[in-house]
Amino acid sequence: MNLFDHIRDVPDFPKPGIVFKDISPLLASREATQEAIRAMAEPYRADPPEAILAVEARGFLFAVPMAQELGCGVVLVRKPGKLPAATTAVEYALEYGNDMLEMHADALTKGQKVLIVDDVLATGGTVAACADLARQAGAEVTAAAFLVELTFLNGRSKLGNLPVSAAITY
Ligand code: PRP
Repeated sequence: MNLFDHIRDVPDFPKPGIVFKDISPLLASREATQEAIRAMAEPYRADPPEAILAVEARGFLFAVPMAQELGCGVVLVRKPGKLPAATTAVEYALEYGNDMLEMHADALTKGQKVLIVDDVLATGGTVAACADLARQAGAEVTAAAFLVELTFLNGRSKLGNLPVSAAITY
């Protein structure tokens, strides 16, 4: 099983000059999705997290099966205005302007060991914001796990010494 065979390049999305890594073919294959989850979960089997922090929207697709593999639950990080109960928020910089992510204020407990899960690590802004949210709640972010890491965007540089794993790297 070569996971690279299940990622499709889409030129000029979302902007001219950007080649988008589309995971739709992988999700359309039961075998490729199963292999992706297995590969993403592998580094954490020996010392599993107490919760997975899942990033909207495509991160959700990988977070729940990974949590089932690793024996924990999932906490949702969502775009503003989507979560029904009291939230905490973090603002983060995009190339042009700012964006915001929210989490339920009671979702994590102090000292809880949390693994962040998302589909893609690009510039690292999203996962850095998630780590801030978790730390504000007193949780301990132990690592971040991705299906794809775009190493040429150097997202790790925004993450300090946070351990990062990815099933596929470009
Ligand atoms: C994509 C991807 C990551 C983020 C990575 O999400 O799913 O969450 O960008 O980029 P970064 O490392 O530069 O922050 P997107 O904002 O497209 O949202 P979606 O999953 O809801 O489509």
